[in-house]
Amino acid sequence: MTNIESRHSNILDHPYSSGPEPFKIKMVESIQLINREEREAALKRAGLNLFNLPSDHVFIDLLTDSGTGAMSDEQWSSMMKGDESYAGSPSFFRLQSAIQDIMGFPFILPTHQGRAAENVLHSTMIKEGDVIPGNSHFDTTKAHIELRHAKAVDCTIDECFDPVLDYPFKGNVDIDKLKKVVGETDNSKIPFVLITVTNNSGGGQPVSLANIREVSEFCKSEGLQLFIDAARFAENAWFIKHREVGQENRDIREIIREVFSYADGATMSAKKDAIVNMGGFIALRDEKLYEDCSSYSILFEGYLTYGGMTGRDVEALATGLYEGTEEDYLTSRIGRVRAFGDALHEAGVPTIRPPGGHAIYVDAKRFLPHIDQEQFPAQALTCELYLEAGVRGVEIGTVLNDRDPETGKNRPPALELMRLAIPRRVYTDNHLAYVKDAIVRLYERRDSIKGLRFSYEPGVLRHFRARFEWVE
Ligand code: F0G
Repeated sequence: MTNIESRHSNILDHPYSSGPEPFKIKMVESIQLINREEREAALKRAGLNLFNLPSDHVFIDLLTDSGTGAMSDEQWSSMMKGDESYAGSPSFFRLQSAIQDIMGFPFILPTHQGRAAENVLHSTMIKEGDVIPGNSHFDTTKAHIELRHAKAVDCTIDECFDPVLDYPFKGNVDIDKLKKVVGETDNSKIPFVLITVTNNSGGGQPVSLANIREVSEFCKSEGLQLFIDAARFAENAWFIKHREVGQENRDIREIIREVFSYADGATMSAKKDAIVNMGGFIALRDEKLYEDCSSYSILFEGYLTYGGMTGRDVEALATGLYEGTEEDYLTSRIGRVRAFGDALHEAGVPTIRPPGGHAIYVDAKRFLPHIDQEQFPAQALTCELYLEAGVRGVEIGTVLNDRDPETGKNRPPALELMRLAIPRRVYTDNHLAYVKDAIVRLYERRDSIKGLRFSYEPGVLRHFRARFEWVE
């Protein structure tokens, strides 16, 4: 345990009143539920991999919260102001000023999405044989590290791997694990330490301010750089405000500024907390590093002031950064996810507790104890949920975790999960109640669900393209 206390002895008692959404809906998209027979045929054509489904065959799409949010009227109007100049667009300067204002970093490089930011930063900083300690690196992050024959070492606290433990900051870095990795490694082989907020692979769980500060102090004492994977930094700041002792009266933006003040830089997938459909960036404190990254940025992404984005996307992103860090919006969003998670929990469905900021994670090991992890229980569950109700979730388990690059063996993770990610400002509580009822029905007939095996397994990031068949 780290030295974090919860303001509430039992965080389930936290007064999460999400209340009505602080927006009304101007435009709608129709969705339709195709019938069971059509869903069976579609899933078969997809090779039992929901990434392969045409999205108009999906009724409620909880595959990801990435790039799937609904932009506001302000964002759509910003798009009209987007300036498409190749170099020196005013839209770039507006984004730069928004990032300086909200995060406090002087230098920025736009990129077309989060993994592109990783590609540029990692190309600049990571060499073969390097070690990057962190808290449950996201899959693209880990893949970019491994592509460079370097190693991502997970130093997340053990509490994160106990699905029923109600701990307020399960995303935290275990300082002792971090010290051990650093102690065993030549510091010149650690280009940076990485904190992901919130911790997506480990249940959407937040990292406390105290933990970020402690990691930062340790990094400084060792002469190491600290980077933040900022995809869900605003949701993380909301949790700090509502769960961490002494933070309750602070402004969310003040907390955000403090979080980033401890880091040397950040990579951002703007498709999450900046509520845009496409975009990302690198934010840096050091001018020399900015210069070094610039070359790769131009090579991979485009000129420095657009980096793979159109001017209109850059404008929508600048506006979205402000909207995504508004407290009323965050309270409503996180409250909505929480209510969905609590409803499943109360119905007896095993989920990761407490609910994450952007998603609910169903615990497939406890849901389907009769299916061995080598037969991909979480993947099997996503298939069943689609067949049952036309709902698309995603596997965060053995398939995603890939094979060990050294041994070539599957590496079943401690948590085998079906993630139901909630897009921002898209679905109502009625949609989520429908999903909950479908999962409860599945739980009642869970013994009938079968495991899977690969019929096709691609090399890199296999979960996107793999195909499966049922094990009889
Ligand atoms: N970091 C985190 C924590 C992420 O969750 C993601 C993407 C990325 C980096 C990469 O960003 O997609 O813009 O290239 N997560 C999505 C998800 C795909 O579904 O969780 P990207």
